[in-house]
Amino acid sequence: MTEFKSKIKTIEWQDTYSRMVDQTILPKKFEYVNITGGQQMYDAIKTMIVRGAPAIGVAGAHGVVLYAQELEKEHLTREEFIRRLIDRADYLITSRPTAVNLRWAVEQQKDLIKKSTSDIKGIVEELKLNGIKLENEDIEINKKIGDYGAEIVPKGATILTHCNAGALATVGYGTALGVVRSAFAKDNTIQVFADETRPRQQGARITTFELTMDGIPTTLISDGMGAYFMKKGMIDLVVVGADRIAANGDAANKIGTYSVAIAAKYHNIPFYIAAPLSTIDTSIKTGDEIVIEERSHEEVTHINGDWICAQGVNVINPGFDVTPHELIAGIITEKGILRPDYKKSIAEVFAK
Ligand code: MRU
Repeated sequence: MTEFKSKIKTIEWQDTYSRMVDQTILPKKFEYVNITGGQQMYDAIKTMIVRGAPAIGVAGAHGVVLYAQELEKEHLTREEFIRRLIDRADYLITSRPTAVNLRWAVEQQKDLIKKSTSDIKGIVEELKLNGIKLENEDIEINKKIGDYGAEIVPKGATILTHCNAGALATVGYGTALGVVRSAFAKDNTIQVFADETRPRQQGARITTFELTMDGIPTTLISDGMGAYFMKKGMIDLVVVGADRIAANGDAANKIGTYSVAIAAKYHNIPFYIAAPLSTIDTSIKTGDEIVIEERSHEEVTHINGDWICAQGVNVINPGFDVTPHELIAGIITEKGILRPDYKKSIAEVFAK
């Protein structure tokens, strides 16, 4: 199993604060930011200093600790401390609506608060330990996803990916890029085609950055080029991450993923999702129930602060789309590869 050579931990608890890689300035600068307060964490998630479904899950868990530390200083009764902390935890969940991992991790912290029999100091300590546990588990889960996924990568394959589902979208190693890392460790003749991923260019800015750091051959293409290379026989499979997967296998991921999946189906190229079980939201039956985040128009109208279109033009900017389950060859999880019928395979994996 290969290690991410740079050993980056995208987000890590540091005694009293959360330290994270600032993803808004990559790849020009590689810098860490210290997040020392609850509101600062909310803003870091919203402005995408930290992004990627599993990474914002851990950020949410850290955010609850930061709020708890702040409330601890207010000398409240235990009851009032808990009431206010639960309120703030719910507020944190609203920072980004699509990726379910954020809600999943914050709900874990809320459960811990409600069930704890400790005093305020003890609750803060328990939340901290749980945040660190989620961090460590994330890397282990991604390595398992990587190793299951490596089995479906043919020798010498070219893998197309969209957005960034890598070490920088998680605590480390990555989901879709975890599959790439594990496959590359077995066969160093594989390569990656990375979609640019407008409007925020996570593919260009982040995927090419982390794969190149690991010495994995990577070719950057712009979003409209995938079908062209599929037709030319230059893509063997597609592996992407997910932000929320419904009980029937419909999967939300970065806007543009759906078009890639349709093109892959047309060209008989297998399209895989790589995601931890925490990304599966069994409370929703289909992808129609997934809330799609609307982001600022400026992400579309500007690149690096410069206008790229007529000023005043109409703009729509959904951050995600939903790929219907019929287009998905398999969902690679830490418990193995789920196959259609997803309603059945998802129910089975959660029943274990
Ligand atoms: O808006 P982002 O950058 O947070 O979107 C990220 C994605 O869509 C990823 O593919 C997804 O979160 C999976 S990350 C392992």
